[in-house]
Amino acid sequence: METNETATATEDTEQEEINLAPAEEIIKNLPDNSRSHLIPTLQKIQVAYRYLPPPAMELLSEFLNITRAEIYGVISFYPVLLTTEPGKYIIKLCYGTACFVKGAPIIGDKMHERYHMRPGDTDPTKLFTLQTASCLGNCGAAPMAIIGDDTYGNIDPEKTLDILGEYTLGDAETPETEEATA
Ligand code: FES
Repeated sequence: METNETATATEDTEQEEINLAPAEEIIKNLPDNSRSHLIPTLQKIQVAYRYLPPPAMELLSEFLNITRAEIYGVISFYPVLLTTEPGKYIIKLCYGTACFVKGAPIIGDKMHERYHMRPGDTDPTKLFTLQTASCLGNCGAAPMAIIGDDTYGNIDPEKTLDILGEYTLGDAETPETEEATA
């Protein structure tokens, strides 16, 4: 969980860089300041920014009258909610049972060797952020991964590195989607 102090420090460095207009618009359109709006509003802010900028969390904290510590406590329960800007492509590597027994951890180790990232990390170039998933819904194609908007099945360590090598920071287009097959 990100501490309040960490959030404050990050906020200090990002305050001038973040355009708060999208967050202000989202918050302004809330019907009231009920706490029940917290999670849906976090989701909307993340869609707008790809993560949850600390200055936007400050605005939300003030409007909903919830401390930032409480907000970050909620965020910590949902791995999909990101407190730092993710890489250009988010990788969801399935660690569900079928994928796990078919070698997903070995694929994760290969990603670490090549890109120096463990689940939850962004690689140093900010090309990828690695997340794990409990099941991507196509166990017959295990092991599976989603990279950005593309779904890949029946992957192995070498194939995965080949696929990842097709993604670059300068891409205008993502590599051709390879649909998983059952
Ligand atoms: S366990 Fe990986 S797709 Fe179901």
